[in-house]
Amino acid sequence: PDKIGVLTSGGDAPGMNAAIRAVVRSCVYYDITPYGIYQGYQGFIDDKFEKMEAGSVKHIIHQGGTVLKSARSADFRTDQGMEKAWKNVQKHDLDALVVIGGDGTFSGALEFGERYDFSIVGIPGTIDNDIFGTDFTVGFDTAVNTVVEAVDKIRDTATSHNRLFFIEVMGRDAGFIAVYSGIGAGAEEVLIPEIDRDVDKLFQSLERTSQRKKSSRLVIVAEGESKSVFELEDEVQQRFGDRYETKVTILGHVQRGGRPNTADRVLASRLGVRSVEALMNGRRNVMVGVRNRSVTFTDFKKATERKPEMDDALLRIADIISI
Ligand code: F6P
Repeated sequence: PDKIGVLTSGGDAPGMNAAIRAVVRSCVYYDITPYGIYQGYQGFIDDKFEKMEAGSVKHIIHQGGTVLKSARSADFRTDQGMEKAWKNVQKHDLDALVVIGGDGTFSGALEFGERYDFSIVGIPGTIDNDIFGTDFTVGFDTAVNTVVEAVDKIRDTATSHNRLFFIEVMGRDAGFIAVYSGIGAGAEEVLIPEIDRDVDKLFQSLERTSQRKKSSRLVIVAEGESKSVFELEDEVQQRFGDRYETKVTILGHVQRGGRPNTADRVLASRLGVRSVEALMNGRRNVMVGVRNRSVTFTDFKKATERKPEMDDALLRIADIISI
């Protein structure tokens, strides 16, 4: 390819900038002209294309968010939207595109790529780690570290007051952030959508241990869990109001921001370079990921239709060490 575009779409994630930088620098390295497209698919439609060079991405490897901005574009789901984007591709003579985002980003890419016979490669960038075909997504590790840092702080105040905290973390329908941060922060319980009856288990455990003098309890609740943190708090108050003083913390968007850690920068750089090389080798409609330390390619179709499985071994470990 002579010209490759790059965009970020969906929720921003720490490390997206490192991925953009790697894509742009790889293009320059291989004598390909890189184009940054602003505001995700919305900018693809609205012609927010900008020719880039190696210097365009200087001093961004350490920054959170995405310098290309992001959007969840409803227009890109319409025929007119796609048609406008295709006109821009022709106008700028773009040969291929790298999209950085989550499964919504890849379904859009799959549809566009098939409709116009256009080459697209995807890089998984989301804090949720909910993408099939990669062990980790760009942004997950940083987000988990942010959560652990926050929960460590909550532990101080929880212990000082003998309180039970319900802490809600992000992850959309997936419990990866909850499980990893639960283990990392030493939470007593982790509630995730992948497991049924975990609320019952929580109540049994509260019943069992309410006599034991535990100074505090930290319960991490994935946002996709069937019961919200407020419902859980209400139930505990109704059943054991005399035994537990409860508080709720929702960590929210703080989990999406901040400087990417080294693991995310390295992952993003690796996937950025390999996405450009994949396009040069004629690959299309695939997501580049890392599995068992090797770079792998997964068809967009598979990456969007399937969900990564929760790691049972990890859940067992969480159970054992929270006894
Ligand atoms: O996909 C990332 C994520 O932060 C999810 O964890 C969360 O459910 C969602 O995005 C929130 O989206 P928004 O920022 O649009 O409210």
